[in-house]
Amino acid sequence: MVASDLIEIENVVIIGTGLMGTGIAQVAIEKGFAVTIVGRSQDKLTQSQSKIRNGLNRIAKKRFPDDAATAEEFVEGLLDNLSLVKTIAEAPIEDAQLIIEAIVENLKVKQKLLADLEPRLANNAILCSNTSSFLLEDVSDKFNSPERFAGLHFFNPVPAMKLCEVVKGGATSDVVYDSLLAFVRKLGKTPVKCGDTPGFIVNRLLIPYLLEAIHMNERGDASKEDIDTAMKLGTGHPMGPFELLDYIGLDTMKFVVDGWHQRYPDDPRFAPSETLDALVAEGKLGRKSGEGFLSHAPRG
Ligand code: NAI
Repeated sequence: MVASDLIEIENVVIIGTGLMGTGIAQVAIEKGFAVTIVGRSQDKLTQSQSKIRNGLNRIAKKRFPDDAATAEEFVEGLLDNLSLVKTIAEAPIEDAQLIIEAIVENLKVKQKLLADLEPRLANNAILCSNTSSFLLEDVSDKFNSPERFAGLHFFNPVPAMKLCEVVKGGATSDVVYDSLLAFVRKLGKTPVKCGDTPGFIVNRLLIPYLLEAIHMNERGDASKEDIDTAMKLGTGHPMGPFELLDYIGLDTMKFVVDGWHQRYPDDPRFAPSETLDALVAEGKLGRKSGEGFLSHAPRG
């Protein structure tokens, strides 16, 4: 394929004002794309915009350390590429070459969104999901043009994380896929190619590893602290598995494990953990709640 065959992406619509939608929007406006974020309330849009402004301010300060006026001009110039709308109906879907859904990880909600968007897509438009645990096949169950659908799986925090998994669905066309690889490179990220399998590359390797660390501790083979120390000093990982579990959030971990276990009940790699379930039931969700596998209480 020659480069001219690729779909030229200029206008991007991002649906979702959470961690991921906001992060993807920041990176895209930084690289000159015209971005519209679709939120559900003015509050969420305002929060998202101010996070983006803060992120850009940090970049501007590094780039123009002695010139506050130029730094401000730089940020305002980039923010000109950002529009905020409260409803899908108001979003310029018809004018976008790329629409990225980054809404709540709920299959039915994602399926409905795709079905609602479909009649408004331009002929050359690409639709992507940022899902981290569902198969694209399931997300696009009610979507009738799967050749223009793919996965763009960014990592949190998006401005800092260099990777994006570009997921090819069973029907994704080559031109759509190659256009997405080019888009990700333009964002300054490194794309990796992967197929539509549970967890793609990173989570497919990471989730069974984290679960095995929990099971190892449940069996009494080693303490959480020793498992963390072993993986940090023995493999050079910046965090041990229990630190990482608490960073990710135990509710998120449980959600992914339960979903995969339900889909593949006989696969021991996705076997649920009683300890994980109990911690979530007690509201011990990791860093965000102050306690998970480890305690994160502020030191007094
Ligand atoms: P978040 O909870 O920060 O944001 C979710 C967004 O979805 C919010 O804007 C919320 O208003 C919106 N939303 C909630 N219910 C909705 C509904 N019924 N209809 C439309 N919008 C709704 O979540 P986050 O972390 O930004 O995740 C978004 C997507 O990105 C999910 O699919 C998640 O699996 C995926 N993802 C998350 C990563 C992470 O580390 N947090 C990493 C990679 C992917």
